[in-house]
Amino acid sequence: LFAQECTFFWGAAARSQLPPEGAPEIAFAGRSNVGKSSLLNALTGRKTLARTSHTPGRTQELNFFALGPTIESARMRLVDMPGYGYAAASKEKIAAWTSLCRDFLRGRVPLLRVYVLIDGRHGLKPIDSETLDLLDQSAISYQIVLTKRDEVKKSEQAARIASVKAALAKRPAAYPDVIFTSSQSGEGIADLRAAIARLLAQ
Ligand code: GTP
Ligand code: MG
Repeated sequence: LFAQECTFFWGAAARSQLPPEGAPEIAFAGRSNVGKSSLLNALTGRKTLARTSHTPGRTQELNFFALGPTIESARMRLVDMPGYGYAAASKEKIAAWTSLCRDFLRGRVPLLRVYVLIDGRHGLKPIDSETLDLLDQSAISYQIVLTKRDEVKKSEQAARIASVKAALAKRPAAYPDVIFTSSQSGEGIADLRAAIARLLAQ
């Protein structure tokens, strides 16, 4: 799947601007700066496909990418979402994209799964739990990806995964497995690619 072309084809800043529904969609959600856009680049092997920044609030629209030979014949779409939590942007802008994200998550028919990214250095925070609550209540399948594995000591990685797994145990829409990735070193990226490819094969 990820050997195919990946092309940015649509940005939406409001609900009325969403692209027509088509191929199955996978969305990447998580706190600002957690590494969503970097992960998309690592998955597709294209360093500059999605714009990244050390300033939280880089991605301000829902950005749609098509995986496949052409946009029309895409087998899957990847959706890079704006982050939640602190962001270097105006209150109005943040409010607008937050409601856009909620509308998208709750009402999108082709949405196959949401990958919720959690900073591997910090684990689950209350603000992440709000997003998981929304997904559980809306019965949207999701899986947790821990990020920035290169920044976490090897001796601490297993415990971080275990504590996130424990927090997921009572969440009905959560996939029980957790993947620990680094967009920098590439660790875990092949596992995530395989998990996404399996979704399409179901
Ligand atoms: P917003 O669009 O602002 O919500 O952020 P984002 O979640 O898309 O994060 P982005 O990919 O822009 O990355 C934020 C910062 O984290 C950048 O400085 C990245 O270089 C850094 N970063 C992302 N992934 C990794 C990683 O795996 N390891 C390390 N060490 N840094 C990372
Ligand atoms: Mg981003």
